[in-house]
Amino acid sequence: MEDKLIYTGESTMQSVFGRKVPVLIASICFIVGIVTGVLIGYFSAKNADSAAASEESTAYKVFLKLAEGGDLSVQQKLLEGIKAENIRENLREMTRYPHVAGTAEDFTTAEDLRKKWLEQGLDDAVLVPYDVLLSYPGNKTSNNTANKAQILDSNGNVIWQTPLEEAALDKASSTKDPRAPPPFNAYSKNGTVENSRLVYVNYGRIEDFFFITRNKSIDLNGAIVIARYGKIFRGDKVRHATMFNASAIILYSDPKDYAVDPNGAVFPNSWWLPGTGVQRGSTFIGNGDPLTPGYPAVDYSYREPIEELEKKMEMPQIPAHPIGYDYAKELLNTMSGEEVPASWRGAISNVTYKFGGYLMDNKTLRVVNHNTREIRTTYNAIGIIRGAVEPDRYVIVGNHRDAWAYGAVDPTSGTAVLLELTRALGSLVKEGWRPRRTIMFGSWGAEEYAVIGSTEWVEQYIKALGERAVAYINVDIAVEYHYKLSVGASPLLYEAVYAATKVVPDPESTMFSNVYDSWQKRTNPSQKPKIRDLGSGSDFAPFFLRAGIPSIDLCYFYDDEEWNISSYPLYHSVYETFLLVTNYTDPTFKWHQSLCRICGEIARYLADTAILPMDVRGYATKLETMLKNFKDTNNETWLNSNGVSLGNLTKAVNEFRRVADAFHEEVQNINKKDPFAVRRVNDQMMLLERGFTDPAGLPGRPLMKHVIFAPSSKNTYASSGFPGLTDALFDIESKAPDERMKQWQLVKRQMAVAIFTINSAASTLRNVTGLHGSMSN
Ligand SMILES: *[C@@H]1O[C@H](CO)[C@@H](O)[C@H](O)[C@H]1NC(C)=O
Ligand SMILES: *[C@@H]1O[C@H](CO)[C@@H](O)[C@H](O)[C@H]1NC(C)=O
Ligand SMILES: *[C@@H]1O[C@H](CO)[C@@H](O)[C@H](O)[C@H]1NC(C)=O
Ligand SMILES: *[C@@H]1O[C@H](CO)[C@@H](O)[C@H](O)[C@H]1NC(C)=O
Ligand SMILES: *[C@@H]1O[C@H](CO)[C@@H](O)[C@H](O)[C@H]1NC(C)=O
Ligand SMILES: *[C@@H]1O[C@H](CO)[C@@H](O)[C@H](O)[C@H]1NC(C)=O
Ligand SMILES: *[C@@H]1O[C@H](CO)[C@@H](O)[C@H](O)[C@H]1NC(C)=O
Ligand SMILES: *[C@@H]1O[C@H](CO)[C@@H](O)[C@H](O)[C@H]1NC(C)=O
Ligand SMILES: *[C@@H]1O[C@H](CO)[C@@H](O)[C@H](O)[C@H]1NC(C)=O
Ligand SMILES: *[C@@H]1O[C@H](CO)[C@@H](O)[C@H](O)[C@H]1NC(C)=O
Ligand SMILES: *[C@@H]1O[C@H](CO)[C@@H](O)[C@H](O)[C@H]1NC(C)=O
Ligand SMILES: *[C@@H]1O[C@H](CO)[C@@H](O)[C@H](O)[C@H]1NC(C)=O
Ligand SMILES: [Zn+2]
Repeated sequence: MEDKLIYTGESTMQSVFGRKVPVLIASICFIVGIVTGVLIGYFSAKNADSAAASEESTAYKVFLKLAEGGDLSVQQKLLEGIKAENIRENLREMTRYPHVAGTAEDFTTAEDLRKKWLEQGLDDAVLVPYDVLLSYPGNKTSNNTANKAQILDSNGNVIWQTPLEEAALDKASSTKDPRAPPPFNAYSKNGTVENSRLVYVNYGRIEDFFFITRNKSIDLNGAIVIARYGKIFRGDKVRHATMFNASAIILYSDPKDYAVDPNGAVFPNSWWLPGTGVQRGSTFIGNGDPLTPGYPAVDYSYREPIEELEKKMEMPQIPAHPIGYDYAKELLNTMSGEEVPASWRGAISNVTYKFGGYLMDNKTLRVVNHNTREIRTTYNAIGIIRGAVEPDRYVIVGNHRDAWAYGAVDPTSGTAVLLELTRALGSLVKEGWRPRRTIMFGSWGAEEYAVIGSTEWVEQYIKALGERAVAYINVDIAVEYHYKLSVGASPLLYEAVYAATKVVPDPESTMFSNVYDSWQKRTNPSQKPKIRDLGSGSDFAPFFLRAGIPSIDLCYFYDDEEWNISSYPLYHSVYETFLLVTNYTDPTFKWHQSLCRICGEIARYLADTAILPMDVRGYATKLETMLKNFKDTNNETWLNSNGVSLGNLTKAVNEFRRVADAFHEEVQNINKKDPFAVRRVNDQMMLLERGFTDPAGLPGRPLMKHVIFAPSSKNTYASSGFPGLTDALFDIESKAPDERMKQWQLVKRQMAVAIFTINSAASTLRNVTGLHGSMSN
């Protein structure tokens, strides 16, 4: 019997590590072998003598190898294999024309990538299409059907209007390409709105609207509002405007937030936004195809009637139109009213920023929006390198492919990096290497609209991903500017990111020993480098917030202490071209190369080590910090006087710390020769993130499942700690008494949900037979 088992193990072993035999079948055979072994007591034998006796056998060596990590020499090969010049060439190639979601270019770019992946040596690459609701602007070549804003004189004659598209500033930003959409806000409601009142609402944050209506008593009912871009997600600005009954909203980029060069240089003479440049972007709140929330947009899907959808707050209820500051100037100079306070002022020259009200000289403002909402096909390209030992564990690396025009920064800098990473890994595969776990690559469609491609894919495969996905690594924009690394991550993965950045040489090799060094010096000199919490706004959202898969989001960033700006200046404008990157954001492509290496090393590390490089103590620290922040921002006496105590939350956090420390200790001392033990703790680490999700979702946001991290309900881009609690407490004091009472009940309910969730997550780290804390801890 033993012999038979040994032979089963041996032949299976060759299959598993060989390249020709299908890995999945091989590992199924292998697992059958192992299970048989356990059943007959072979591998579980604790008897040292019997183990020693069989140590010589090939099968036993094979068995031991299953608990070993991959070949570390691959690390250097991978880093050296990644070339800046290739990324430059990828970017040049992929920014030759606009590639907007749902257009012919959506398909051709996906198909190009699929073919290249197969040539590069990936095991497989497929296209995954979804039919989803997208949105397109009016016709930029026709005054009758183009989107625009107009000023009418008191007789109703049009005396001024915004241009129908951005001015062409150089050959590279060929705005005349019919495939480059004119400035528009996707999904904003179409129609024509006219009003003689225009009110300036600063950044359009909820507090800005409170200030206008409560402190300044300005009536917004029916008025058109103008907001500057920045600080929060534009969809939230539109939603706030709707909540306060504005009839339309104009969004513009103020030089204070997008063009701060002291000499006033703008693109193409610098990277700052020129007055003609416009930020496009979606205004839909929420992730995924608007017509199939929670489910994939495939052939059998039920699609909500569009009339039902129209009524929901996620779907913009008013026309929105984005413009450049050269044109905002005209509108702001036509405004009347009191001057705004200093913090509300922008930096357009010769403009006195006023709150507004009736336009001067009985003028009228007209906003014309011809957007259409259409169901079209968007494509994900999915590539795969199968794992040699644990093919059923997936490390996923993803980037979106759709852009608002040429997208040289967003997202094509990331796509160029992804394609170089697959080439480098593919060539290792061609040489015979194979990671321990499977590595998958996702090139997502329609991210710009509502993180659609990745969300639909996660929705379609949520059960399999929920059981098998180890981690998701997102690269949207690879390089905003050549300055410092910017990372958002699950606390489980902080240490993995630190470790990976320590082995990647810094692009400024004469100044810094490695990426970790520059990252630390430029973000948090006296401690470990700063890592952001993950809010929303890119493709990690469905993985992290919906499915509870530990995620990382990476890019190189500008110096935001030197430049107090809202994003890189040409964000989502037609000027985001190859020239922008080669002349300003990363002329040497060394930062692109570095990001590719970091991403590659993290993926290799997660895919190839026997014990997953996850540290559950990171979550304990994060919970402690969140609790402290919560206490700092919420008066505890006040909470207590409303019947809310922080005692049990504190207790839960403390207990989580204790269990996490014990678990970490256990992982350190694990018998690394026991593949079952290794697999068990790996699963516990991989699934801890799932433990922080609530199937019911957050109040009013059933598809937001992560109880610890969720985008703020006031700013979709930002993450908010204990989001259920924070949202329930928001503005509670200004509510009418009975509504306030209801809201306090919600606070208490959310407090219990938070405590429950932390306790639940802790229970997954306890000894597997000790479900209750007392049993074996
Ligand atoms: C649209 O109308 C404006 C103002 O009359 C004019 O300057 C512009 O050339 C027109 N554009 C097109 C594409 O017809
Ligand atoms: C846009 O309008 C022009 C005429 O101004 C027309 O030639 C063109 O076909 C239109 N494009 C679309 C997509 O309808
Ligand atoms: C607005 O009014 C509120 C309530 O009266 C007050 O607390 C707050 O300080 C005011 N805000 C500003 C910026 O004046
Ligand atoms: C908006 O209009 C509705 C319906 O007329 C009204 O009930 C509500 O109070 C208004 N909201 C604000 C903030 O003025
Ligand atoms: C961009 O860089 C190229 C090469 O360095 C240079 O010839 C060109 O003048 C630059 N263009 C601008 C607009 O700065
Ligand atoms: C703006 O102000 C400057 C200095 O105050 C002045 O020289 C210039 O003519 C003004 N420009 C316009 C367009 O009003
Ligand atoms: C604006 O309209 C009001 C009343 O409709 C009128 O009294 C006033 O003269 C007009 N002002 C201008 C500058 O046309
Ligand atoms: C508004 O959008 C709908 C649906 O996409 C479309 O049928 C209609 O023609 C559009 N109306 C205008 C004024 O553009
Ligand atoms: C950045 O600008 C905002 C207003 O636009 C201001 O509130 C903030 O304090 C500024 N931060 C720095 C570091 O200058
Ligand atoms: C906290 O709330 C209590 C009760 O509502 C109040 O008396 C106290 O002044 C508040 N403390 C602070 C620092 O706001
Ligand atoms: C925890 O909750 C229990 C049950 O509601 C309550 O009796 C106890 O006082 C709470 N403990 C603290 C420290 O708040
Ligand atoms: C689980 O039990 C083992 C053996 O009793 C012990 O060494 C380990 O610390 C425990 N782990 C946890 C997380 O309590
Ligand atoms: Zn992007």
